[in-house]
Amino acid sequence: MLMPVTAILLLSQVGMIDGARLHQRRPNAVFILTDDQDLHMDSLAYMPYLRKHLADQGTTFARHYCTIALCCPSRVSLWTGRAAHNTNVTDVNPPYGGYPKFVSQGFNEAWLPLWLQEAGYNTYYTGKLFNAHTVSNYDSPFPSGFNGSDFLLDPFTYEYLNTSFQRNHDAPVSHEGEYSTDVLARKAYGFLEDAIAAERPFFLTIAPVAPHSNVVFSEDWFSNNESVHNIKTTSPIPAKRHEHLFSDAVVPRTPNFNPDQPSGVSWISALPKQNQTNVDVNDLFYRNRLRALQAVDEIIDGVVARLSDAQILEDTYIFYSSDNGYHIGQHRMQPGKECGFETDINVPLIVRGPGVAKGQVSHDVTSHTDLAPTFLTLAHGGLREDFDGSPIDIHCHSKDGTGFGDFHPRKEHVNVEYWGFALSEGEYDQKVFWNNTYKALRLIGEDYNVYYSVWCSGEHQLYDLNVRIFVCTC
Ligand SMILES: *[C@@H]1O[C@H](CO)[C@@H](O)[C@H](O)[C@H]1NC(C)=O
Ligand SMILES: *[C@@H]1O[C@H](CO)[C@@H](O)[C@H](O)[C@H]1NC(C)=O
Ligand SMILES: *[C@@H]1O[C@H](CO)[C@@H](O)[C@H](O)[C@H]1NC(C)=O
Ligand SMILES: *[C@@H]1O[C@H](CO)[C@@H](O)[C@H](O)[C@H]1NC(C)=O
Ligand SMILES: *[C@@H]1O[C@H](CO)[C@@H](O)[C@H](O)[C@H]1NC(C)=O
Ligand SMILES: *[C@@H]1O[C@H](CO)[C@@H](O)[C@H](O)[C@H]1NC(C)=O
Repeated sequence: MLMPVTAILLLSQVGMIDGARLHQRRPNAVFILTDDQDLHMDSLAYMPYLRKHLADQGTTFARHYCTIALCCPSRVSLWTGRAAHNTNVTDVNPPYGGYPKFVSQGFNEAWLPLWLQEAGYNTYYTGKLFNAHTVSNYDSPFPSGFNGSDFLLDPFTYEYLNTSFQRNHDAPVSHEGEYSTDVLARKAYGFLEDAIAAERPFFLTIAPVAPHSNVVFSEDWFSNNESVHNIKTTSPIPAKRHEHLFSDAVVPRTPNFNPDQPSGVSWISALPKQNQTNVDVNDLFYRNRLRALQAVDEIIDGVVARLSDAQILEDTYIFYSSDNGYHIGQHRMQPGKECGFETDINVPLIVRGPGVAKGQVSHDVTSHTDLAPTFLTLAHGGLREDFDGSPIDIHCHSKDGTGFGDFHPRKEHVNVEYWGFALSEGEYDQKVFWNNTYKALRLIGEDYNVYYSVWCSGEHQLYDLNVRIFVCTC
């Protein structure tokens, strides 16, 4: 059983625990990683427990980015600390991506859970790990590095009411008819109990599928990269108790929402303006995302309550983020991700825990490749030569209590990249665009705030985000 700091101090004062053990004491961490959650369509504003327990009690990193706006490549970068052009995991399915590609690139022997265990941590994971991690390949090999794991498996990962979970080395179990996020919550609380009862510090990841769209796959999806056509996406499915919430909510009507003039390059500039029926249907899709997030919000409350009951809340970091962002209607796009716009790459990151300033906003430029180095640093593990990222200064605003809201440059850029398809996931114009390949640089300094991208189509694009204008396409 881990004891609160005050208890250990008392015990050490009476000589029951020596100074060395006290010195070795390290914090726990719980990482809640959602799927496709936006920062730019106000999803966080609809999560009261997130605000109460995380934003008000911790620091929000307003300039946190994913480096590739697609689930599997983004998650592989996150868990290895390396950009996708270095992991070579650039897609959701083989041959360029998915769990088999993660394994064949050697990352099952070189990734964060293993490094955390080497640093003396007990590691637990429940929820979605990677794409193409399936009811057939889950044991060839098992993901390494976890003391306890219970994974959502394809092809059922995105079916909110018909999931298959696979625990430790057991066979997959179908949860037909049960609500995905609620099944996940039970599993998360079980691991938390195990973690608290064990002798070491722990790292628990909770990775719900919300607010991803509900997806039903065709049989050949995993063997055929062209079969991206053969999936049926619909809006996410909320838990029954949440399905009538937010009936007036609509996608924020920002200047780039369904504009009169086309914008962007390549396939985006060819999109037609959406008619009112289409916009209404997409607003409903938006509401269902907010509703599906409510069961995730409840998990935040459930985790905090359990940590508090065990008297370890103040010794535990809680990180909250999403693998990539999402767009609905901006630049006339149907619901989806995979693009380099802020909606897709600038994602939530909120951290609370020992020494993290409460209710503050950091403007440091950070990315998902920084998370593995950050977690390892907190665990007192060594950094690795092959990391593309570096530790985020999560305590930066706590040192002297001054300078909040100022710009504290640490790093000014994020490299963003993408290879291949963009998928429209809404009800209208559900299709695949194949020419969605680009490299981009997002650069934010005191006097500049730009996004520059180069496309495989030969197009270039420069935006100045300080003046909200699109500078040029050539
Ligand atoms: C990346 O993966 C592709 C597809 O398997 C392969 O053809 C290519 O050689 C790999 N590149 C590197 C640098 O490993
Ligand atoms: C967790 O796994 C590590 C590495 O295998 C092991 O050293 C440690 O004892 C395990 N913890 C528990 C509670 O079994
Ligand atoms: C739910 O998944 C199981 C496999 O785990 C499958 O046999 C069954 O047909 C699915 N049910 C529905 C309603 O899709
Ligand atoms: C599908 O994969 C093959 C290699 O197996 C590749 O040559 C082809 O370009 C891919 N198709 C698309 C549309 O990405
Ligand atoms: C609105 O747009 C959608 C998608 O292009 C189209 O299928 C539908 O027929 C249009 N509806 C009206 C009323 O024009
Ligand atoms: C992709 O872009 C190239 C170059 O602009 C063009 O020749 C090709 O037709 C495009 N392919 C698709 C599938 O749109």
